[in-house]
Amino acid sequence: MTRGASVPLTARAGAPAPGPSPARFLLRTFGCQMNVYDSERMSEALEAQGDIPTDRETEADIVILNTCHIREKAAEKLYSEVGRIVAAARAAGRPRPRIVVAGCVAQAEGEEVQARAPAVDVVVGPQDYHRLPALLAAHAADGQRKIALDLPGTAKFDRLPPRTRPAQAAAFLTIQEGCDKFCTFCVVPYTRGAEVSRPAARILAEAQALVEAGAREITLLGQNVNAWRDPADDSRDFAWLLAAVAAIPGLARLRYTTSHPRDVTDGMIAAHATLDKLMPYVHLPVQSGSDRVLAAMNRRHRAEDYLRIIDRLRAARPDIAVSGDFIVGFPGETEADFEATLALVREVRYAQAFSFAYSPRPGTPAADRGDQVPAEVKSGRLQRLQALLAEQQLAFNRATSGRLCEVLVERPGRRPGQWIGKSPWLQSVVIAPVAGVAPPAPGQIRSVRLGAAGPHSVAGEIAEARVRPAEVQGCPVATP
Ligand code: SAH
Ligand code: SF4
Ligand code: F3S
Repeated sequence: MTRGASVPLTARAGAPAPGPSPARFLLRTFGCQMNVYDSERMSEALEAQGDIPTDRETEADIVILNTCHIREKAAEKLYSEVGRIVAAARAAGRPRPRIVVAGCVAQAEGEEVQARAPAVDVVVGPQDYHRLPALLAAHAADGQRKIALDLPGTAKFDRLPPRTRPAQAAAFLTIQEGCDKFCTFCVVPYTRGAEVSRPAARILAEAQALVEAGAREITLLGQNVNAWRDPADDSRDFAWLLAAVAAIPGLARLRYTTSHPRDVTDGMIAAHATLDKLMPYVHLPVQSGSDRVLAAMNRRHRAEDYLRIIDRLRAARPDIAVSGDFIVGFPGETEADFEATLALVREVRYAQAFSFAYSPRPGTPAADRGDQVPAEVKSGRLQRLQALLAEQQLAFNRATSGRLCEVLVERPGRRPGQWIGKSPWLQSVVIAPVAGVAPPAPGQIRSVRLGAAGPHSVAGEIAEARVRPAEVQGCPVATP
């Protein structure tokens, strides 16, 4: 795997008959929020030329798989999906749809994708989505396979059509892509290329457009979101951007993900104290609590540095919910190293967390190490870590029980009259209707009394329409 590999548009023989125009396309997204954002932009690009989105595979002329390469299981999903799509079409006696592979597997494996899955017609990397309509048209014209994998850059952002669709109440906005950190376990620097920031002017224009299209909350996205710096003006850093986006009238809430401990600044911490719209939640991955493992991972900070950042964030915003990512079973990890991770988790008290068994990724330095941890040791450690994290998550949710807080209403729940929304701490709130109180609608921010807590969601009752703002604001969480 080589970073920044640029493969010219090529055509090869052996593809199926081209499809109709306009075409019906089904887009399936795997991986992180950045892929969710990219899928929306690809969909907009195809719709702009008259193609029609569908969620029914049986009527799709084109299936686009927006893929993730982060762990082996994620990457393997692509190949089972392609096999399944082809088999389903054959079993139903209909022609198979044209198949596009986008995203991080496309970038990492390139031509290998079509070698392993000959039914794939188009392979398009994460920086080339603006070329997707042209690639599909070229494929329709000559029936030859297409592949486009240019890295790096943010050209796609400038060339994709402007955002026009009604936005979700909670919208994503990519401000930075790629990574220069080269953690020794990670494929992202190879799949997304070098760290590139989008210009402030474009980000602010897109945020404004999202708000005008109905977004109440925006989450700024980047692999290292807090490494953002305006390419047009070096003095503007991530803290500046947070304040600038928060100043957009009509925007109610602001979030960001994923931040890296190395790029946390005083200004970013202070923003949590000064910006009312910035939600009390931070996702700050640490991966391990052992300095030895952190060094081998090339994280370039110690466990202690991380803990002090958490202290400072809590001093700025006492109710802040802390989330993190963890890898267990990194090559050479001993029982003592793993215990250090458990100790760090106990000290932080996480509100949410994502934890994974180390998955060796081809082309990354850690994959070649001779001291790989046996699978059963990895899964034993993962179970122990996840049990502790689940306990903490439940304790956090229970600590919010009885509180009155503002919830952004997003979508209907499973039961009639029930709605799902997000608390300031990013908890999923299952909102029950209350007789005599106006029912919620998507995009509203409503006062909700939180109740029974589960590990993954909290129940809540909609409160009267008017609650004294003083009662809603602050809404401190007793940390468990
Ligand atoms: N840029 C972010 C992480 C992006 S990847 C950061 O540095 O924090 C999301 C998460 O996937 C990582 O935080 C890590 O916990 C996990 N991950 C990445 N590579 C992995 C691998 N090879 N095996 C297991 N988990 C991995
Ligand atoms: Fe991967 Fe590390 Fe970059 Fe995060 S900082 S994307 S874990 S290389
Ligand atoms: Fe996966 Fe690519 Fe995101 S590898 S986690 S989809 S950046």
